[in-house]
Amino acid sequence: MQIITEPRQMQAIAEKLRLNRQLIGVVMTMGALHEGHLSLIKLARQSAGTVMLTIFVNPSQFGLNEDLHQYPRPFEQDVALAKAAGVDYLFAPEAGSMYPVNHQITVECGALGQRLEGERRPGHFNGVATVVSKLFHITKPHIAIFGEKDAQQLAVIRKIVEDFNLDINIVAAPIVREENGLAVSSRNIYLSSQERSAAAVLYQGICHAEKSIAGQKKNLSEIAAEIEQMIFSTPGYRPDYVTFVDEERFEPAETAVAGKEYRLLLAAFAGTVRLIDNGKIMA
Ligand code: PAJ
Repeated sequence: MQIITEPRQMQAIAEKLRLNRQLIGVVMTMGALHEGHLSLIKLARQSAGTVMLTIFVNPSQFGLNEDLHQYPRPFEQDVALAKAAGVDYLFAPEAGSMYPVNHQITVECGALGQRLEGERRPGHFNGVATVVSKLFHITKPHIAIFGEKDAQQLAVIRKIVEDFNLDINIVAAPIVREENGLAVSSRNIYLSSQERSAAAVLYQGICHAEKSIAGQKKNLSEIAAEIEQMIFSTPGYRPDYVTFVDEERFEPAETAVAGKEYRLLLAAFAGTVRLIDNGKIMA
């Protein structure tokens, strides 16, 4: 596995691979690799000849009061995991080479980036869209794998590809969960052991929604309110939002229509730690 830190060098390698008719698959991460990230790398291995992994804790997607400086950065451990997972190129730039002092052009997401997570984290999706666009240009992938764990991020990335006519195949990877249902995340290390076991409530909420809709319940707002109640009654937990959106346009949905796909999006605070989760549900 080769480790590259300079955008120009990564681009030159990607260009050469393309000239040699190699199919490039990329997985973009902020590091602190876990089972979720590894499942994306595995998918990339299955669908591309060359696998690139990017590790970059992107400052522009963190708000002023967020955890940019505490974000875990176990680089040596990440290198070992990436190697073992069969990554061919690890691109791990310094912030200064991604955002030189004269950097000024950014990507603006529009309405999709301002709802839900975007409303709670102003500017977050513009930061994600900007860095993901830059990383697309640097790694020149044919295929890019993103996790359903960050469902709104995935919707934003699909929209970038559509609106900017990018010739990249976006592949969605299912959410990897711990035994109690908690979605694996680099931020789970911030949870106390009680908070960690109580986190099962989010997955129980998703299961509750699945059961209710399978039982022909149509009122999605009512189901969301029931799930909020489940979270409220979990010690140490409070819901931030529980909302259904239609899977196609990611717009709020109130009533289930048979045959349509919805996504239940949940965000909750466990003490000061904010968790997000989601599940796709067919009505
Ligand atoms: P990060 O949080 O490191 O996640 C990198 C990728 O791993 C994302 O596509 C995310 O959805 C996926 N992922 C995380 N946890 C997962 C899980 N439990 N199951 C499946 N996939 C999971 O998302 C980012 O980084 C950044 O915003 C990034 C796209 C790299 C831009 O900076």
